[in-house]
Amino acid sequence: MKLWNKGFEPDKAIEKFTVGQDRELDLRLAKYDVQGSMAHIRMLQSIDLISKEELDLLLPALQQILDEIERGEFTIEEGVEDVHSQVEFLLTERLGDVGKKIHSGRSRNDQVLVDLKLFFRDELKHISESIQNLFNCLIELSEKHKDKLMPGYTHLQVAMPSSFGLWFGAYAEALTDDMNMVVAAYNIANQNPLGSAAGYGSSFPLNREMTTDLLHFANPHYNVVAAQMSRGKTERAVAAAIGTVASTLGHLAMDVCMWMCNNFAFVSFPDELTTGSSIMPHKKNPDVFEIMRGKCNRLQSIQNEIALLTANLPLGYNRDLQLMKDILFPASTELIECLDMATYMLGEIRVKDNILEDSKYDYIFTVEDVNRLVLEGMPFRDAYKKIGMEVQNGTYKPHRGVNHTHLGSIGNLANDRIKAKMDTIMKNLDI
Ligand code: ARG
Repeated sequence: MKLWNKGFEPDKAIEKFTVGQDRELDLRLAKYDVQGSMAHIRMLQSIDLISKEELDLLLPALQQILDEIERGEFTIEEGVEDVHSQVEFLLTERLGDVGKKIHSGRSRNDQVLVDLKLFFRDELKHISESIQNLFNCLIELSEKHKDKLMPGYTHLQVAMPSSFGLWFGAYAEALTDDMNMVVAAYNIANQNPLGSAAGYGSSFPLNREMTTDLLHFANPHYNVVAAQMSRGKTERAVAAAIGTVASTLGHLAMDVCMWMCNNFAFVSFPDELTTGSSIMPHKKNPDVFEIMRGKCNRLQSIQNEIALLTANLPLGYNRDLQLMKDILFPASTELIECLDMATYMLGEIRVKDNILEDSKYDYIFTVEDVNRLVLEGMPFRDAYKKIGMEVQNGTYKPHRGVNHTHLGSIGNLANDRIKAKMDTIMKNLDI
């Protein structure tokens, strides 16, 4: 049965091809679909398109469907195209003709849009919570290990002393930039498309401000064509936010894989958090961070997928748009899983102490020795040459008397500022 039934049975192969994954993916939209319908019919009653008595029948029936969704009892039946059809069929089955009234002034085009906006708002909130958890974990680790030194690299050659405080703290601060993107995507999603109908509005005097308030959107998409255009634009913003978080997390995963490598051995994890080999008995592999790195690299490609899928589509609704759900729904789940796994793993990370005492890192102190000579009055270029010649002829020995508090305690005082920055960004997210 189709909402658009006109007396002929659609071809089964066509149905299978066009419905695609909707019956499964739309389950994630079900509760938002009902919330959208509740707001829509309240508004329809306010402009006398349905009576108070009809509203009093419809609202409890929709609430019942919402309860069924919460209990996991709601399914989209075989032969029903999508969640929008299923909810309307259930209402009509349970209430009779009054169920058929809810679609006045609405199209599935603005219905799916409103569902998606509500869904993305919640997903972005979940993502922001997982980012916050990881952020807090990183700040804690940065404080805990602030005075433990590690080599800093450029060109993957040992460069200058760094610290675990700086390393953990760097990823915390990177997450503040990512959070800005999540907030931007949230604000783009937080606009009401309902009332734009098929994409060109309705001749009914719909009260779009009312549904905007009922669904707690910041504002309507005022222009109905812009409302329809926001399908695709919203997804691009969400994909960009997912991509930027994934890039930070993928980078962190790569660092951990490298620091876990036996040649570095800067960090390790309890055995049960590592994985083994079927042939080499000694192996304790970082599979978790490898999977995370791979997933995060893939997650950065969804921006391209969405961009190509929506590039140059004709104005107005096109069925291609449905396919964005296939890309974004699993992506957002996967990102949250990666963030939570990173927090879980880092909670158990073990950090090696006294790494820089190993003579293989001696050259890491050359700049500080140059600086020491400068402080003693030697011109920088002369000091550079003196230390450089010592390295060249193999006589260089690091002074090792340098106070590294700029890398530890003093450098990490900035964690308070980083936390304050994150708090300010979070205030822009209305949760
Ligand atoms: N499953 C559809 C989608 O996600 C719902 C909207 C259908 N609209 C239409 N005009 N066929 O886009």
